[in-house]
Amino acid sequence: MISKDALPDGNRSSIKQTDSTYALMISISQSLGVNCDFCHNTRSFAMWDGSTPKRTTAWYGIRLARDLNNNYMVPLTEHFPPQRLGILGDVAKINCATCHQGVFKPLYGESMAKDYPELLGPMHTVASPAGGSPPAAASRPATAGLLAQP
Ligand code: HEC
Ligand code: HEC
Repeated sequence: MISKDALPDGNRSSIKQTDSTYALMISISQSLGVNCDFCHNTRSFAMWDGSTPKRTTAWYGIRLARDLNNNYMVPLTEHFPPQRLGILGDVAKINCATCHQGVFKPLYGESMAKDYPELLGPMHTVASPAGGSPPAAASRPATAGLLAQP
């Protein structure tokens, strides 16, 4: 956090806290291959109305990574062999670089969904007639509307 007060009285922003914020910010920047001003206006790092829309996406990105770690990775801990765990027995963690790999949109935004329609779930296939099996792939209606590029 950026201090809003020059005096230590009531000012929670310590060097330690600043260190955590900047460590996260530098990690985010490197993962996405961008500079701070991809998301911030350097006039004020804190002000949201002076930031770029990318910062809002990144806000969700932070919560996405947190959610995946807490609800997906951590419960998988016991399924990893001991040599795959950290020295304190903790499981590997997902971070921005796991998906972004140094670019602001993973794979530079290449759409992969069109090549894997089966991963889009059952709503993309025709409901099977009562008692029957689903129609063969070839006779399914085109899902173009759902897969079309924006
Ligand atoms: C990809 C977008 C993105 C990049 C790049 C980025 N930030 Fe951030 N930054 C954010 C988001 C999102 C928040 C708010 C996080 C939250 O509230 O959970 C934030 C918060 C901050 C804050 C805290 C502001 C406050 O409320 O007091 C500081 C300081 C900051 N960033 C500095 C930096 C610096 C320095 C860099 C470059 C090294 C950087 N940021 C790069 C997205 C980004
Ligand atoms: C599970 C994979 C995954 C993780 C983890 C992830 N992202 Fe993303 N992110 C994506 C995908 C996919 C897109 C592109 C969506 C699209 O094509 O519009 C994206 C897009 C973005 C964008 C928009 C880029 C642009 O140019 O519009 C930002 C900003 C971003 N992510 C920030 C983050 C941050 C910060 C983190 C880590 C705290 C993070 N993401 C973690 C998958 C991920």
